[in-house]
Amino acid sequence: MINQAPITRSGSYLDRLYGLAGKTALVIGGGGVLGGAIGRGLGLAGARVAVADYSEPAAVRAAAELAGAGIKAVGLAMDASHAEAIRAGLDRIEGELGEVDVLVNAAGGNQKGATVAPDQDFFRLPPEALKGVVELNLFTGAVLPCQIVGERMAGRARSASIINISSLAALRPLTRVVGYSAAKAAVSNFTQWLAVYMARDLKAPVRVNALAPGFMLTEQNRFLLTTDGTTLSPRGAAVIAQTPMARFGQSDDLIGAAIWLAGDASAFVTGIVLPIDGGFSAFAGV
Ligand SMILES: NC(=O)c1ccc[n+]([C@@H]2O[C@H](COP(=O)([O-])OP(=O)(O)OC[C@H]3O[C@@H](n4cnc5c(N)ncnc54)[C@H](O)[C@@H]3O)[C@@H](O)[C@H]2O)c1
Repeated sequence: MINQAPITRSGSYLDRLYGLAGKTALVIGGGGVLGGAIGRGLGLAGARVAVADYSEPAAVRAAAELAGAGIKAVGLAMDASHAEAIRAGLDRIEGELGEVDVLVNAAGGNQKGATVAPDQDFFRLPPEALKGVVELNLFTGAVLPCQIVGERMAGRARSASIINISSLAALRPLTRVVGYSAAKAAVSNFTQWLAVYMARDLKAPVRVNALAPGFMLTEQNRFLLTTDGTTLSPRGAAVIAQTPMARFGQSDDLIGAAIWLAGDASAFVTGIVLPIDGGFSAFAGV
């Protein structure tokens, strides 16, 4: 905890604010696009990084990239939909990298069946698909890891930070994207709930916040937002028209905010959902 900023431009003061040296970060879904970028950012800021993912090869590959850049990292398989798998992974991480100070919940995403396709209507959307996307984003992508990793964080005196990944779809639902929008709204709401529970009920030094990325151009949605990889599709053009900064986001756009939320620079920040969307959510369209 830093109480008084020095008047001189001191590098070590800024290092303590924004540096993550001595901290261990666990990025679940770290084999994916956004989790991968966040893990890299936290590692470059000095953290030891555990990359956990449903896909073991993706986790091991991402960790090897970090290790190649001189960052202490491990990559491991973890199915975050199972409490025992999270617990087992956590035991291994604590043994190899130390207790987890920063948890990033980056497992999640939209699922095709939970979206109203152009030739479909909402009334016949399979409930199982809607349940599945809520299960993935709310329970696997936030609640379960927060229960297991959060309990260990809350039992210690050292400060810790949890970063969930919501979406701008949580602020105002996107057309057609019914299940994912509802799931991410629940992630934002849960983030605020847990922030209050940790601070007020448990008096635990665990902050809980979320990032709400806007439209990030990734390999998964490139076919939706563009027609041939570069030319905007009608939906892509609609997104850009609604984005004051007139571009899609890139995964690295999340890095600065993730470092800020992970470390002492945000020591008095808990319960926020931070949009990283080029102004999309601020713009009324007029
Ligand atoms: N890409 C975007 O434009 C965008 C925008 C807003 C929010 N988000 C959110 O950001 C997060 C990451 O998205 P992304 O684009 O990097 O997706 P991604 O598919 O590249 O990464 C998600 C990762 O989660 C892993 N995963 C899935 N189920 C898992 C489980 N049960 N246990 C452990 N890992 C599991 C996958 O293997 C994958 O590596 C998601 O929550 C997504 O909803 C993405």
